[in-house]
Amino acid sequence: MAKFNIPTCLTVLTFMISHLKMINAGSSYSFSFQSFDKNPNFQSNIALYGDAKVVGNGSSLQLTRSVSSSAGRVMYKQPIKLVEGISGNMVSFSTNFSFLMSPDDGDGLAFVLVPGGFYARMFNNSPFGLNLGSEKSSPKFVAVEFDTKRDAEYGDLNDNHVGIDVGAFVSVKVRNVSSNDMVLNSGKRLHSWIDYEAGSKRLEVRLSQSGDMKPIDPLLSYPLDLSNMWNDESVLIGLSSSNGNSSQTCFLYSWSFKLRHVPQWMHSEPLDPQAFAKRAKPVQVQKKSDCILKMLAAMIFGSACGALGAFMVLYLWTIFGNRRPIVPEECSVHPGDFEYKKVKVVVDKAVQDGKH
Ligand SMILES: *[C@@H]1O[C@H](CO)[C@@H](O)[C@H](O)[C@H]1NC(C)=O
Ligand SMILES: *[C@@H]1O[C@H](CO)[C@@H](O)[C@H](O)[C@H]1NC(C)=O
Ligand SMILES: *[C@@H]1O[C@H](CO)[C@@H](O)[C@H](O)[C@H]1NC(C)=O
Ligand SMILES: *[C@@H]1O[C@H](CO)[C@@H](O)[C@H](O)[C@H]1NC(C)=O
Repeated sequence: MAKFNIPTCLTVLTFMISHLKMINAGSSYSFSFQSFDKNPNFQSNIALYGDAKVVGNGSSLQLTRSVSSSAGRVMYKQPIKLVEGISGNMVSFSTNFSFLMSPDDGDGLAFVLVPGGFYARMFNNSPFGLNLGSEKSSPKFVAVEFDTKRDAEYGDLNDNHVGIDVGAFVSVKVRNVSSNDMVLNSGKRLHSWIDYEAGSKRLEVRLSQSGDMKPIDPLLSYPLDLSNMWNDESVLIGLSSSNGNSSQTCFLYSWSFKLRHVPQWMHSEPLDPQAFAKRAKPVQVQKKSDCILKMLAAMIFGSACGALGAFMVLYLWTIFGNRRPIVPEECSVHPGDFEYKKVKVVVDKAVQDGKH
């Protein structure tokens, strides 16, 4: 019995130990800005482009000015990785921010994930001023747009929608915010939460009036495998806004971002086995596991031998050491007698029968 259980136990233990190490090794990457000036973290980690500037003594970030063709963006300088190079662990993230847009038909605001080489300084006429290269080369980006202009070119639903864009400004999933009794450009503060879960490979977007609790039901939920899309490329995150021909202004009041490292064993089945193979473990990790495995094997083998030895001693002692009969005296019969009586009866009967 022990023979079958030991390898299973070993595998589970080794597995747990190696993964606990990986969880600890994953450095966490997070920030939270409730204001935008005194925080030294803000100064060193945040880059402002275009018309973006700190206003109101650091209480907010203004992305667009009240003039036509204004555009601005804020980017976190440190790139992130959605798949960790050596361990191949996937990464989940959560971000939330509060914003305000004035009642004009500008493009609105977008939370963006762009390639690490993105030239953040450049703006063009694309929605949110995002200059992502030629359309033909299908740029790699993900945007969650808070769109206040109905742009027929991109098949927009109306002038009050939230959409998820993957590689193109025609949203893969869109929600009419009017049906949730909210107006993106009402001039009131709103709060949005965007969560990417690497385990379930899902992007969720939530929206509420500023000060309200995080809604339970997402406004949008879309299956998206960001780890497959980016592999171990570095990705930049930011918020971008442009007002086109309007004089819409856009303000940001807070912005938080948090990365979570998902250990390998929590992943669901990979959709693309080749992509999974590319993230094969290096030999180094294997060596450490081997060493632990050998140590554990020695320990468990030793314990098993000890237990087996003790059991043998007890067993032998029971058989040879204790010579008293095992069956209680009164229950024992003399089988010989019994057999004899039985045979005698049968014989007698047969003899009697023969007499007739
Ligand atoms: C900014 O702070 C200064 C000094 O604390 C104060 O005098 C000024 O009124 C403030 N301005 C705004 C827009 O809050
Ligand atoms: C936004 O995220 C930060 C960091 O995860 C968190 O501390 C904060 O409570 C969140 N804000 C809201 C309104 O949920
Ligand atoms: C959006 O929702 C509002 C309110 O429910 C509705 O009046 C409007 O027709 C909807 N727009 C579209 C394009 O579905
Ligand atoms: C602004 O309006 C002009 C004329 O209506 C148009 O040609 C141009 O494309 C518009 N620009 C943007 C960014 O919408």
